[in-house]
Amino acid sequence: MLSDRQQHCLKGIGIRRCEVLPLAIAVPESEPRVKANPVIAKVAEAAPPTPEKPALRKPVIDVPLENWDAIMRSIQQCEACELVQNCTQKVPGIGNQQADLMIVGEGPGHDEDIRGEPFVGRSGQLLDKMLEAIGISRSQVFITNIVKCRPPNNRDPHVDEVASCRRYLQAQIEQIKPKVILSVGRVSAHSLLGTTEPVGRLITSLHQLPGSDIPVKVTYHPAYLLRTPTAKAIAWQDMKTVFRMLQA
Ligand code: URA
Repeated sequence: MLSDRQQHCLKGIGIRRCEVLPLAIAVPESEPRVKANPVIAKVAEAAPPTPEKPALRKPVIDVPLENWDAIMRSIQQCEACELVQNCTQKVPGIGNQQADLMIVGEGPGHDEDIRGEPFVGRSGQLLDKMLEAIGISRSQVFITNIVKCRPPNNRDPHVDEVASCRRYLQAQIEQIKPKVILSVGRVSAHSLLGTTEPVGRLITSLHQLPGSDIPVKVTYHPAYLLRTPTAKAIAWQDMKTVFRMLQA
């Protein structure tokens, strides 16, 4: 049974009670499991999600990212791609450095660029409600993005921008060692998994972060859910899958 609080959260997300199954439900046998075979390529070698762009004009700052401070300092100092020219500030990520759950979005939007924190706008509010519905608070997870600077006009990050930023995300994942990564939206899923498969297909199975044994659950981006409320019931199923993976 869902608690009153969870039912309240679901109402906040915009999901009707009848679309919901209890959290305690067992994973059906037909539900795909985490793939057993490790994928060989590393995140750093994953295929880019967007078409080719001209090569970088500025060199990547190639200092070792051996600890959390070095990662955060390097992100703040980074001028590896042209996104830095238009953003207000870097948005490295926020949350628990020992988190079991790491959430990876696409890139900062307008609100995030102003606040320096990921997922604080309307999408972020919905994400918070989705987390709350499975009994997890924002402070328990680590939230970050594929790129740490806002792409102008919220365009998709270009391939060189994703490539420049990848070492930071990889270093963050290596430090946090999450039990599960929740990848929200197309850009995140394509960048993390090195695929161009549609999100609608990617959400139907569990994945593994290339080069590691960390399971990746793909779900719809909250911005998409705000535009397409009918997809919220699927996202709720995804959240329950994440919940079960965290309990395992
Ligand atoms: N969308 C994202 O993908 N990330 C954010 O931080 C905010 C909106």
